[in-house]
Amino acid sequence: MKHMELDEKVIKYTYGQPIETDAVVLGNIKVGENLSYLALEGKSFKYKLKKDIPVYGLGESVRGINKRGWIYESFCSDDDMHTETKRSLYAAHNFIIIAEEKPFGLFIDYPGRLTFDIGYSQLDELVIIPETMDLDLYILEGDTLLDIVKTFRQLTGVSYIPPRWAFGYQQSRWSYKTNEEVRAVAKGFRDNGIPLDSIYLDIDYMERLKDFTIDREKFPDFEELVAELKRDGIRLIPIIDAGVKVEEGYNIYEEGVEGDFFVRDEKGNIFEGAVWPGKVHFPDFLNSKARAWFGQHYACLMDKGIDGFWNDMNEPAIFYTPRAMAQAMQKVEESKDKNIDLGTFFGIKDSFSQIMNKEEYFKEMHHDMDGKCVRHYDVHNLYGYNMTRAAGEAFEKLRPSERVLLFSRASYVGMHRYGGIWTGDNRSWWSHLLLNIKMMPSLNMYGFLYSGADVGGFSDNTTEDLLTRWIQFGIFMPLLRNHTAAWTRQQEPYAFEHTERLKKWIKLRYALIPHLYSEYMKAALEDGMYFKPLAFEYEDEYVREVEDQLLVGESLMIAPVYEQNKTGRYVYLPEDMLLVTFEDEKTYTLTKMTKGHHYVACDMDQLILFVRPGRMLLLGAAADSTKDLDMTSLTGIAYCKEVCHHTYYEDNGMDRQVHLEGHVTEVEIKKENNHFNIKLKNAPCSVLEKLALTLFDNETETITGIQYDI
Ligand code: NOJ
Repeated sequence: MKHMELDEKVIKYTYGQPIETDAVVLGNIKVGENLSYLALEGKSFKYKLKKDIPVYGLGESVRGINKRGWIYESFCSDDDMHTETKRSLYAAHNFIIIAEEKPFGLFIDYPGRLTFDIGYSQLDELVIIPETMDLDLYILEGDTLLDIVKTFRQLTGVSYIPPRWAFGYQQSRWSYKTNEEVRAVAKGFRDNGIPLDSIYLDIDYMERLKDFTIDREKFPDFEELVAELKRDGIRLIPIIDAGVKVEEGYNIYEEGVEGDFFVRDEKGNIFEGAVWPGKVHFPDFLNSKARAWFGQHYACLMDKGIDGFWNDMNEPAIFYTPRAMAQAMQKVEESKDKNIDLGTFFGIKDSFSQIMNKEEYFKEMHHDMDGKCVRHYDVHNLYGYNMTRAAGEAFEKLRPSERVLLFSRASYVGMHRYGGIWTGDNRSWWSHLLLNIKMMPSLNMYGFLYSGADVGGFSDNTTEDLLTRWIQFGIFMPLLRNHTAAWTRQQEPYAFEHTERLKKWIKLRYALIPHLYSEYMKAALEDGMYFKPLAFEYEDEYVREVEDQLLVGESLMIAPVYEQNKTGRYVYLPEDMLLVTFEDEKTYTLTKMTKGHHYVACDMDQLILFVRPGRMLLLGAAADSTKDLDMTSLTGIAYCKEVCHHTYYEDNGMDRQVHLEGHVTEVEIKKENNHFNIKLKNAPCSVLEKLALTLFDNETETITGIQYDI
């Protein structure tokens, strides 16, 4: 879309003195004079919500796809209890769409605490309350919900694109602590024939939990380990934390102090907090020099063969400050040997239990935003974003032609240009599988396409059936990573009784990678959504309420089973579709289904998905690693009434420079005189050298297998 056209769809209103967030990449946006749609009353923006009109957006947050009926706060929070009563999770995503007959979007570019009361105080009122009136408000217009999303994404920039190997299955735990443990995990996968592309290194690979170091006692031959695993198609992905350990002689600490790269307190001293390594300083990621300094340090691991990272604890998480700890200790001291009353007891208890992530810490911290001193609290939501930006900007220099895997825990709009996100410390709860399903399309609205939740659940002990169902959904998530906490039971697929069953679903993921990667790339390059709620493409009386089925790319609808002890589920079909029931990655049955409500069988040995009419699913063969995927022979499962169309994107999965033109093959199937004519346009693409098509002919209800050689 040309800028002129975009200009007609977006209006910007500026209030007070907004702090530059770099969320928006386009300049020259039309400036509005009189606020339309919303009413500004005092320090809040108000809007009357008509009955039953959904409100979409808010990315990473609790509750449903339709956000009505709760109060949410944009304030990146290190909170591991993602219950529906929470107002904030790790991210700050300030974009919503009001799905009126003529829908419109609102983006509030504001880096501080922002409240969205969407029918909490009053059922039919939306109230948006910033803490201060220094913000840019963008109103986005469009004919459809997808139009508005596209406009928002053009405003905020093209999504991050990971390497294709990042679509492989990834295994993590806090932590695989030694060379031997990592090798044992790799062996566990390979011995069982379970595909695997990455193993994660959580904080214990570091020397005394210090960023950009390796504990050589536990990993004496780190470089050899990286190389050996890579030869076998497995990459090691280390974690990087925001806080830098205070330790004399530690190069990052020394350089940070010397270069004045750390956040300071209100008195001008370097701010000290405590996280995993004990006392830490926080790099001033809002300062471009500090960003460049921190970013270049990723090179020390990249030089050892590392191709990807996850950035953690970057809300930032602060367990305590020396001052807060001293105050808490003082309380204990004062009560020592006394017969303490109830109030004193709870006072002592709270001074420890509520010592983490206190607002006062964020008020003490100060940034040097390239010459401007800014209190951290007022720009809190930009911190994780800029940590990931530091890495992303560095990678452009360190690996100018190759993509690097990168995702973060905290985020703000705009970070989607540098990396993906994972949704933090969920639990091994069935309700969190459903939350994962509902969150994905909201994240996609923001361009966080490369995202996912900890599959199997992070905290608490998972169960085999939960892990199975989560993997069954997870095989559609771009970031498919099984990760769990230090205190939980083993969560690798080979640790359970029915390893073979878990394996076949992971194998199905690999068979789907050509298709899913193509859908991902189209969404990224066209500012589209990979996961969509049904209501973004269909309009009828039911779809708005369907939140447990999703559209994946252009061709598929998924209906995951997310409840325990179920052998199937109810599914709503907004139009006729082709049900594909997989028994394993190679065996499936096809059933034509009509529009409407159905109960569809799906026990743990089955996996269901639906192909939309006129669309096609491409299926390849599984492999142990993405590097061994055979991309030259795919099976097309087409639901073809009269005509069927599919656009297939392909590239080498590695180059940074990607363009939609030149890499796509258009597959078109037309029914003429009872014959199907298959045309492949623009087919220099290697993947479709051989395409076996299974057509579902609506009229005759027969299935024809066609071998098609180009
Ligand atoms: C918090 C992260 O959310 C979690 O994934 C990680 O395992 C722990 N930090 C330890 O690094």
